[in-house]
Amino acid sequence: MTPPDGAEPPRIDLPHPFELGVATSAYQIEGAWDEGGKGPSIWDVFSQTPGKVVHDIPGDRGVDHYHRMPSDVALLASLGVDSYRFSLSWSRLLPEGTGQVNRVGVDFYLRLFDALADAGISANVTLYHWDLPQALEDRGGWLNRDVQHWFGEYAAVAYDLFGDRAARWATLNEPIANWAGYGMGVFAPGKTGALSGRTAMHHALLAHGQAVSAFRASGAQGEIGIVVDVWKRSAVDPTPENLQRVRDQDADAHEAFLNPLFKGGYSDHQVERWREDGSMPQVRDGDEALAAAPIDFFGLNIYNRVLVDAEPGDEARTGFVGGNFLDSGKFYDPEVAYEVLGLLHQEYRVPVPIYVTENGIANCSETLDAGRVHDRDRIEYVRGFLHAIARAAADGVDVRGYYLWSFLDNYEWSLGYSERYGIVHVDFGSFERTPKDSAYWFRDVIAERSLWVDAPGVAGRPGRST
Ligand code: FCB
Repeated sequence: MTPPDGAEPPRIDLPHPFELGVATSAYQIEGAWDEGGKGPSIWDVFSQTPGKVVHDIPGDRGVDHYHRMPSDVALLASLGVDSYRFSLSWSRLLPEGTGQVNRVGVDFYLRLFDALADAGISANVTLYHWDLPQALEDRGGWLNRDVQHWFGEYAAVAYDLFGDRAARWATLNEPIANWAGYGMGVFAPGKTGALSGRTAMHHALLAHGQAVSAFRASGAQGEIGIVVDVWKRSAVDPTPENLQRVRDQDADAHEAFLNPLFKGGYSDHQVERWREDGSMPQVRDGDEALAAAPIDFFGLNIYNRVLVDAEPGDEARTGFVGGNFLDSGKFYDPEVAYEVLGLLHQEYRVPVPIYVTENGIANCSETLDAGRVHDRDRIEYVRGFLHAIARAAADGVDVRGYYLWSFLDNYEWSLGYSERYGIVHVDFGSFERTPKDSAYWFRDVIAERSLWVDAPGVAGRPGRST
């Protein structure tokens, strides 16, 4: 694609090698929540509970991917993606969470792997993208320390079934979701309390470690890693009070995972604060070594910077919000990708290749016009992030891929069908798919392995707004 005025703009090349793809998750797209022997997950139960999701519309049908998988893979092929990142539904494979394997669920994923292989698309599989089997929630869910063994068993089953089919395996997607689900109560299963939230987060780290060790014990091919989201905070006004808020909020969010994964455990700052407010999770002998089990790659989800300002009244905008609650349409700053990749490289000394496993935007203007969907803001957003990532790679960070969130408009958790992240438009009534302008643009980027940028620095300008 050339810029609108036809002038010859500066171009940059993407790193080489660099994997380009799109991402989804099982609950957000599959639907068929109770078909083919699938057991319910905590998200089925939560979204079916009045008052929990926008407009009280549950995610039962997702975007009907379960029934449209072959044509969805054909669409992926038409984009020319190198790789497709998706997650497995734990309760489709093991309806009770442990024990009996559901053959119909296995067959669905085998057909998906076959279709991807036939299309020459590599599979990047996430074991857990937030949809814990309800049967396990009934036994205490992420608050029960045994969840690490339940997850280890599930992981071993998945490696056994599909271990020769995927290039990359991630244990968990954004384990901060356990804070939203067991601390804030805004995600499934809707529990609250700081100790509860941090306990669920700690158990996620143990589960991750168990799944890494199960991977090493299995004959699975490919690589094992984890996906963590980093919403780097910045003080709008760098007063000592604001800078402290930035430190505390970063400590409670991404550092709660990065420190155990790469620095051998929680920091003194974390332990002191959490002891003081009574939210310190129980850490037993061996937990730290388990969480720090060597991995083969690190997945970074990055959407935006969070602006922190202690001015009264600004808390709602800037307070600690993990996961996907930020209103991305309001403000975005691609430079944060350069900064966070630098942080992972220098401060955490991440010893393995990094893949950007999610980046995308909703709430940008989309106009429908004679069968086309114009979403220029999304193109600008992705261009900005790709530029920042390419600069980080040029400056020595080992970043080897980028996955756009998302392939399809889908069910956005507690926000239901109210936010569209897809580069393919989905009619939420008929589930008809229509590629947006961003899909054609991304297809060209994938083919050309380069992109034009506005002018040096502009694509990465801090504080750029939509
Ligand atoms: C991430 C989630 C993904 C989606 C995007 C918008 O936090 O991993 O499922 O909700 O945000």
